[in-house]
Amino acid sequence: MEKRTELYRGKAKSVYTTDDPDRLILLFRNDTSAFDGKKIEQLERKGMVNNRFNAFIMQKLQDAGIPTQFDQLLSDTECLVKKLDMIPVECVVRNYAAGSLVKRLGIEEGQELAPPTFELFLKDDARGDPFINESHVVTFGWATAEQLVRMRELTLQVNDVLRQAFDDAGLLLVDFKLEFGVFKGEIVLGDEFSPDGCRLWDKETRKKMDKDRFRQGLGGVIEAYEEVAQRLGVPLS
Ligand code: C5P
Repeated sequence: MEKRTELYRGKAKSVYTTDDPDRLILLFRNDTSAFDGKKIEQLERKGMVNNRFNAFIMQKLQDAGIPTQFDQLLSDTECLVKKLDMIPVECVVRNYAAGSLVKRLGIEEGQELAPPTFELFLKDDARGDPFINESHVVTFGWATAEQLVRMRELTLQVNDVLRQAFDDAGLLLVDFKLEFGVFKGEIVLGDEFSPDGCRLWDKETRKKMDKDRFRQGLGGVIEAYEEVAQRLGVPLS
């Protein structure tokens, strides 16, 4: 597989074209950003940890029958993925109250949410990724009603699989964000799953083990990511 030109540079990953028009290479960088890119730092080893973490999770989801864009690990910081037509909508599931839900609705942080909530946000940095609802998605053509049903179904399936996997590792999957795209007419899970895009708390102590350590300046960011990886059995180099 030949890596060609940079197609897109995101806040933490770069996307490259390849000699196969249906495949892209994702490069996980050490850049770490929060607050719509207002806080940016380089964290040593983060690209490698997130790339390997993502590969492990995507393989687990694929094994559970969830279609993902992931094909294979290429190096410490790169993987090969299917080229999707991305849907500009973020799907967020919450098992416990935290983050923007606490701010928006005044729910107490840490309260268990049963059943879990399912929320949609528009991917639009300039507008701070606004909260949207299902009718917006369909009316403005970001996805069809059928695609949206599938995105919700897959997101809840991901929650079932990963909640259990993290629980077995002594961690609470508090919430997470997924992005989807279309590949050959099918809705497929895209982007990444790493501690950058989810909240994970230690089950006993409720210590934060995810990007909130960076957002809140708690320190020990990569150490926490590595501990999560080690508890899950993700091989790191
Ligand atoms: O900020 P909020 O509480 O809505 O975030 C919910 C979840 O989605 C968190 O796990 C957060 O890391 C993730 N998220 C993300 N990218 C965004 C917004 C939220 O990964 N742009």
